[in-house]
Amino acid sequence: MKDLEDIQGSRVYGRRLAKPLKKTSAARLEKYFSLYSISLEQNETIDVSQLFDHEPKEVWLEIGFGKGEHLIEQAKANPDVGFIGCEPFVNGVSGMVDHMDREGLSNIRFFMNDARLLMDALPDGVISRAFILFPDPWPKKRHHKRRIVSVGNLKVLSRLLKDNAELRIGTDHHDYCRWILARLMENPDFNWKSDHPDDWHNRPDDWPSTRYEKKALKQGRKSSYMTFIRTSRKATK
Ligand SMILES: C[S@@+](CC[C@H](N)C(=O)[O-])C[C@H]1O[C@@H](n2cnc3c(N)ncnc32)[C@H](O)[C@@H]1O
Repeated sequence: MKDLEDIQGSRVYGRRLAKPLKKTSAARLEKYFSLYSISLEQNETIDVSQLFDHEPKEVWLEIGFGKGEHLIEQAKANPDVGFIGCEPFVNGVSGMVDHMDREGLSNIRFFMNDARLLMDALPDGVISRAFILFPDPWPKKRHHKRRIVSVGNLKVLSRLLKDNAELRIGTDHHDYCRWILARLMENPDFNWKSDHPDDWHNRPDDWPSTRYEKKALKQGRKSSYMTFIRTSRKATK
């Protein structure tokens, strides 16, 4: 496996490996890595239709899936959707793969690296739904440039999302929440889907909870659940 820093000068901030994997998990990860991981050659464009055993009805993307609680639940609930999950944290991917194995799921493909590398290699308008759940908030001002929700990354996401596709973002961090809303509101390619002033305080039924959401709740922090719609390209021409 190539090291992150080796690939196109990209840099992921945060941990890649917290503790060594148990023997069984390591063996399972190796097996699933050869079966279901997405590998990238330089300057390659990924043919999404070739990723899955059967052509999926839609392709959904999760950026930073952690240990994969949300990805697994969505993949179980939507067997005709193909899922692409990105997560550079090896213990997280291993946890997700353990779940995938227990559930017998085969509609997930994963990229164990910086999501931005994969996004750059995807063709325009192939993603029907994207999730960024509880991204690292990088609270210090000098670290704001590390935030995954950024002008540049939203530009790429806007290219990847189909017209009227959903982008779902959750966070328990007030300052990052304000930042996310500001970045999305200033971008004409996205509209905030808010039918009721209160609806972003409540997690929709089809939005499974994640480890970080639960952790925040335990520590007394409420979360925000924001859904944005990729505007129609025809309408913005
Ligand atoms: C705070 S955790 C949240 C994990 C999970 N979404 C949850 O809600 O429990 C943020 C995750 O984003 C991952 N991450 C950070 N930078 C990333 C990047 N450039 N591409 C993909 N994932 C990234 C981290 O490894 C980490 O697992």
